[in-house]
Amino acid sequence: MAEKTRYVCSQCGYENAKWMGKCPDCGEWNTMEECAPIISSPAAKKSAPSVKFDSSKLMLMRDIPLLSDKRTKTDMQELNRVLGGGIVKGSAVLASGEPGIGKSTLFLQMADSIGRLGRVLYVSAEESGEQVRMRAERLNVQSPVMFLAETELKQVLAAVEEAKPDFLIVDSIQTIYSDELSSAPGSVSQVKECAVKLVRLAKEAGISVFIIGHVTKEGAIAGPRVLEHIVDTVMYFEGERNSSLRILRAVKNRFGSTNEIGVFEMSDVGMREVPNPSEIMLSSRQKDVPGACVFSAVEGTRPLLLEIEALVSETAFGTPRRMATGVDYNRISLVTAVLEKKIGLKLYNQDIYVNVGGGIRLYEPAADMAAAASIVSSFRNKPIRKGTVIFGEIGLTGELRHVSMAAERIREAERLGMERVILPAACIKNIKCDIELIGVKSISDALVHLF
Ligand code: TYD
Ligand code: MG
Repeated sequence: MAEKTRYVCSQCGYENAKWMGKCPDCGEWNTMEECAPIISSPAAKKSAPSVKFDSSKLMLMRDIPLLSDKRTKTDMQELNRVLGGGIVKGSAVLASGEPGIGKSTLFLQMADSIGRLGRVLYVSAEESGEQVRMRAERLNVQSPVMFLAETELKQVLAAVEEAKPDFLIVDSIQTIYSDELSSAPGSVSQVKECAVKLVRLAKEAGISVFIIGHVTKEGAIAGPRVLEHIVDTVMYFEGERNSSLRILRAVKNRFGSTNEIGVFEMSDVGMREVPNPSEIMLSSRQKDVPGACVFSAVEGTRPLLLEIEALVSETAFGTPRRMATGVDYNRISLVTAVLEKKIGLKLYNQDIYVNVGGGIRLYEPAADMAAAASIVSSFRNKPIRKGTVIFGEIGLTGELRHVSMAAERIREAERLGMERVILPAACIKNIKCDIELIGVKSISDALVHLF
């Protein structure tokens, strides 16, 4: 029987025998990708009726032996935290980020650290041995880390069989290819095929596999989310080009909490851990300027003080511009609308730019109130009173909503010597602290205390 190549839409999963520019199902352009043919052998068909089932496979859930949750701890606490306490045996981790953010650097450092505890194989499909060696020299890698420069998947799998590592690092999934597929390396089908084989290897041989992936402009890992459900843990490595701060964020973790972050700083000798990120976030801050507001964020289980800045200036021509970096654009639109309607600020002829310091991306609505405060401060050209920290979610009617982990946010503000916290009144209950707390019920209440 002839093998049929299929074309699958990477957005919605629609299948077709022919390639098409536009998916007829979801209407997206350029999403049809070649996929491996489904091979149906005649032998398989003949033997189909007599399926043999091994009855010992069926069991009570409570009889399944519990694996001991023994984790290998790296020397980097920030990395351990994101992994949920260390590396789980036989787990598959996908680590992705923009090119040049420092993925190869971080994982080479990790290889050095766990190389003392087990056998590590580092496969590079991007760089030559000499290039990696140069980096290793710079990072002062001392452990006996095994190395292979290879791009073909079967060769990689053969090397793993030969080397029998406990930890495997593959850098990167976009440059590895399987010769069973005709599509180019980096295409959705190639990336998926290679990832599935590597993850199977992790499960069968009990090897902990780290797959490094690049993200596209839109922030997706080669084709929307194709890899995320294949692996156990997904980490994103974020940071701004012009800042040395790097954030490692777990967005999925079968073995630990998600939304934990690890903070690193890129130095000339690799990634350095930052155990006290708030201090760095606020260190470059210009004090008491209009449009700047200190926000107490929570990332995972950890509070983090950072600055939200806004610039409000009159629109010179046409429709006003709105721009949000590090915060959700839609939330800024909402905050702006509430400020117009409830406070009566005339923002319809003003350009508004909002930015979060340090290249951090905020996902929590608790940032609303701080964003609103920075917009008002810039609009009125008045600095927010010294030592003020603000957090709280804004509702559509202008009320301030309760946010989680208020005590942690307050404690961090206190620890960094701030003087007062403006927060939703609902968050104040049962909190003991020495810092001044100003509980407010609505956005107009909050603005009274701002200056
Ligand atoms: P790299 O780990 O190669 O990034 P990725 O694998 O994510 O593409 O690192 C990229 C940048 O980091 C590069 O511009 C050089 C810089 N760098 C340092 O600043 N210090 C160092 O010790 C190393 C190894 C790299
Ligand atoms: Mg790299």
